Parts: sequence; C-alpha cells; structure tokens
Amino acid sequence: MTRVLSGIQPTGEIHLGNYVGALRQWALDQHEHDSFFCVVDLHALSADIEPETLRAKTVEVAAILLAAGLDPDVCTLFVQSHVHEHAELGWLLGCVASMGELRRMTQFKDKTAKGDEGAARVGLFTYPVLQAADILLYDTDRVPVGADQRQHLELCRDLAQRFNQRYGETFVVPDAAIPKVGARVMDLQDPTMKMSKSRSSPQGKVLLLEPPEVVAKKIRRAVTDNEAEVRYDPATKPGVSNLLELLGVATGATPQELADKYDQYGPLKADAAAAVVEFLRPVQTRFRELADDLGHVERVLAKGAEKAQAVAARTLHRAGSAMGLLPRR
Ligand code: TYM
Repeated sequence: MTRVLSGIQPTGEIHLGNYVGALRQWALDQHEHDSFFCVVDLHALSADIEPETLRAKTVEVAAILLAAGLDPDVCTLFVQSHVHEHAELGWLLGCVASMGELRRMTQFKDKTAKGDEGAARVGLFTYPVLQAADILLYDTDRVPVGADQRQHLELCRDLAQRFNQRYGETFVVPDAAIPKVGARVMDLQDPTMKMSKSRSSPQGKVLLLEPPEVVAKKIRRAVTDNEAEVRYDPATKPGVSNLLELLGVATGATPQELADKYDQYGPLKADAAAAVVEFLRPVQTRFRELADDLGHVERVLAKGAEKAQAVAARTLHRAGSAMGLLPRR
C-alpha cells in the first residue's frame, strides 16, 4: 500500500488555502493510502511564538484536522515533537545537506529578505531538513501539499537520493502530490500573492473557523480587475481565476466550465461566496463538537504518536546504522 505523509504548522489561523490545498486532499488520501499526518510543532519554533500559544494551537490544529475529516481509526494523526525520531533524523540529514542548497530555498530567502540573514534563526535555515526527516522517516511515497511546498519536496528528494548513493539504499524517494485545482489559493485583496497565515491581511484571507457571514463578505469583496470579462487565466486574471477555482473546488466543476457560465463578476462572487460557506459548514460544525472535548483530541494524539513511533524508530535505526553509528547494546 502506498504510504502518505504530510504536515501542518500550528501557527496563526488555519485558512481556506490550507484546507483547499492540503487538508481536503488528506481526508481523501486516508481511505486509499496508509496515511500519516502530523502537527509540526518543532517547525513552529522557527518563528517567535509564545509557549502557551504553541501548546494551545497544537491541540486546536489537531482538532481542526479531525473536523476536516481525518479519521483516527483510518489514519495516524500525531504531534511531531511526540516522536523524537524526527529531530534525530533531522540531525543526520543536516550532515548530508549543503549550505548552498538551503540558502536557495525561497521560503528562507523571503523570510530573511527584509532583515539581515545574520539575525535569522538557525531553525529557519534548517527548516527544510527537518521537513525532509518528517517525510523520509515513514518511507513515504506521496506527500499531499499545496504548490508552495514544491521546492521543499525537491530538496527532500535530493537528500534521499544523495543519502542512498553515499550510504546504500535506505530511503524511499517521495513524490509531491499537488492538486490540479486549488494548489495555490490567492489572497483575496492581492491576488498576485498566495493566501498566507502570516502575510495576508484579515480581508485577504478566509479563516476556516470564521462565521459564514464573514466568509461570504470577504469573498464578495475580493479584488478582481476592471475588464468585466469572466475568463480563467491565472497569469493575467488572478483575482477572477482565484474565484473560479474556489467555486470549482466547492462544487466539483472545473474553473474553465464555470467561466463559460458567467459574464459578470457580481454573480460569480455571490455564487463563490455561497458555495464556500456551504463547503466549510460541515468542518465548522464538527470543530464545535470537538472543541468541547479536547481531552478526546489529546487521546487521539497519544495513540497516533505510538503508531508513528513504531515506524519512525525502525527507519531512524536503519539510517544511523547505514551512516556508521554504533548500535547500543
Ligand atoms: P503550512 O503549515 O504552511 O501549510 C499547510 C499546508 O497548506 C498548504 N497551503 C496552501 N495551499 C494552497 N493555497 C495556499 N494559499 C496555501 N497556503 C498553505 C501548504 O502547501 C501545506 O501543504 N512546511 C510545511 C509543513 C510541513 C510539512 C512536512 C508538509 C512540515 N513537515 C512534511 C509536508 C510534509 C508548512 O509550513 O505548511
């Protein structure tokens, strides 16, 4: 059976882009593949975050994943730091990765563009190495992510291949699984940039747990252009194309088919708003139920960590042995 792994950071508020680009796919994948999903709290430490916030967000995001349809009887849901093998394999892979390739990561370049690199956290720099460890620990074949993770996945493949060449066949080389539609949900106020937890303004992003009327309003006020022509073309009409993609994801139609049905922006916005509200409704309802019993969520996570660790420990041992670490007797 194909193995799937993906992760999400417990920082900021989970938004429509996360759901459309990743979580929605995870809920489908769990029924077809042996699936592991983690809340990557160690990655969240690469930015400044209050300890109390991190703790609370970690459980909240796990509850959101369950609300988005992950079934703990079908997939394995866990917290990254509960499986110490992630940090350990991260070290081993850090001894395979080069400074040059990490410096080329656009996420690192973006986040240090304004300030000086000397002040950036080492964890921000080595972030993709830990992400590669997350993936390689589970002999992962398929990694369902949004388009913004493509470069990190390429690095992970490079590290796996380099390791295998140097130390012998150890890791499965994974493939990114990026959805055809909705892989890059754009900011509603600036459709030339992706919807982002940290960068988007409140009006630019739709939060997963936001009241329906707020969701609808934000979509109805989305920035488009002044051509008054409904056409699907992300390069030249990013705002309109984003609305067509959202409507498409929520209704199951393709953006191209939908473009033919509209000749004005008003009705497109109104329909996209209504469709997204309905699309999010079941997730919001389930989240409210789960939020009343976070003890249940923590029990799910404890069971998940146990299942994950059983796999991760074997892979870590294999990798360490291949590199020449002396087994403990
Ligand atoms: P994170 O927490 O930023 O985002 C979680 C997932 O949401 C996707 N995503 C989007 N998809 C479409 N449109 C958008 N505007 C949008 N914004 C975010 C992301 O592509 C991601 O799939 N580095 C990862 C977390 C990670 C990980 C891993 C992922 C750590 N270890 C191992 C896969 C495998 C991240 O920061 O995701």
